[in-house]
Amino acid sequence: MMADYAALVQPDRVHSAVFTSEDIYKDELEKIFYRYWVYVAHESEIPRPGDYCTKWIGEKQLIVSRAADGSIGIFFNRCRHRGAAVCMDEYGNANFFRCPYHGWTYNSAGDLVGVPYPSRYGEGFDKSTLGLARVPRVDTSAGFIFASMAPDGPPLAEHLGKAAGFLADFVKASPLGTVSLSAGTSKSAFWGNWKFVGMDGYHTNFTHKTVLDLRQRKAGASYNRGAGNSDKSANESWDLGNGHCRLDLTGRDKVAIGAASNTSIAAGIPDNADGHEYMRLMSEAYGDGAHEVIRRSRDVHIHVWPNLQLIGSQVRVIRPLAAGHTEVMSYPAMLDGVPDSINTERIRSFEWFSGVASFGTPDDTEVFERNQIGLRADYIPWLVLARGLTVAPQEDGSTVGNVTDEVPQRAQMKAWLRSMTSPEVS
Ligand code: FES
Repeated sequence: MMADYAALVQPDRVHSAVFTSEDIYKDELEKIFYRYWVYVAHESEIPRPGDYCTKWIGEKQLIVSRAADGSIGIFFNRCRHRGAAVCMDEYGNANFFRCPYHGWTYNSAGDLVGVPYPSRYGEGFDKSTLGLARVPRVDTSAGFIFASMAPDGPPLAEHLGKAAGFLADFVKASPLGTVSLSAGTSKSAFWGNWKFVGMDGYHTNFTHKTVLDLRQRKAGASYNRGAGNSDKSANESWDLGNGHCRLDLTGRDKVAIGAASNTSIAAGIPDNADGHEYMRLMSEAYGDGAHEVIRRSRDVHIHVWPNLQLIGSQVRVIRPLAAGHTEVMSYPAMLDGVPDSINTERIRSFEWFSGVASFGTPDDTEVFERNQIGLRADYIPWLVLARGLTVAPQEDGSTVGNVTDEVPQRAQMKAWLRSMTSPEVS
């Protein structure tokens, strides 16, 4: 029986079933992940012809491949013979994919180029119709590769809307304007719903109290933990439309060479030879605007609906596994064309807060699992999303609230409801 979705999402509350129902999870895969634009991979993961990686949209495994002509193709990882996955490696470079079952062979453009013992196939057997099935629409924005399994619908640029500018800002921390996900992946999973992984400026001082205490101890009196999120914070939460949302943390202390900070380029540029070389390269690339470019890049804190987050120097990808089970892949984004130590510091910063064994991510995982446990005790089955409810949309359609407001959560439920009730991709 199909749920009455409009009854489950109210202006100030959401029904627990949206996070706990396996039927709704299955329907989300069909109506969100298998229809709309979804982030799949980054161009830097397949830089050379023949490079490939395997990724997932929901429960469907895909091969993202760079063909000989440099174009990107995304194929369903399913042999056209009897359906076996033809590629089991996460990354590689190959001219061909050979199915391990009976040896059918495909080139990096997905064409079926060989079958064993060909004389036993009849006249009507046409290899040209039996290539790997392609995901119908593939497009990129600032090096981020998105796919849509719907053959028709709005182009990627329309789906991204205002979010596209923040993707562009993120990569401009590099003087070449490109980043690479080349420093490895931190992969984790938790027993909770995928929609818990959002932009939430309300939780920081509570969920992350331990790490904030540690930072305070390290930084001493100069550390201002109150500026991060409170009723009086200068920081903001944004609804950018289409489910995309943002935390604007520019109310924090501004970045400057030599500023007291942790060691991340996202939090401050080191006052040493490499820091100055980095600034020279950035000034060469961006002129007088280099400091502003760095500030904007550092402050990217965005969720691209439904499954991509860019947070400072981190790329985070969300994959639903079940109503109460989610996988998260996190990557430190390396800046192309900068001194090595700048990227090393980005990795250190990632390890400090974002990796699976860091001080930050395990805190989030724990509360997401508590959230799932709590929602099952559904005597009164509603979650309240009322904080900042009276914030009015701005002229450009954005809604901007205090950083602790539940503007992002309501933005995502609005997009969720539209997707779940719309007969077509819109
Ligand atoms: Fe792939 Fe038979 S299933 S060759």
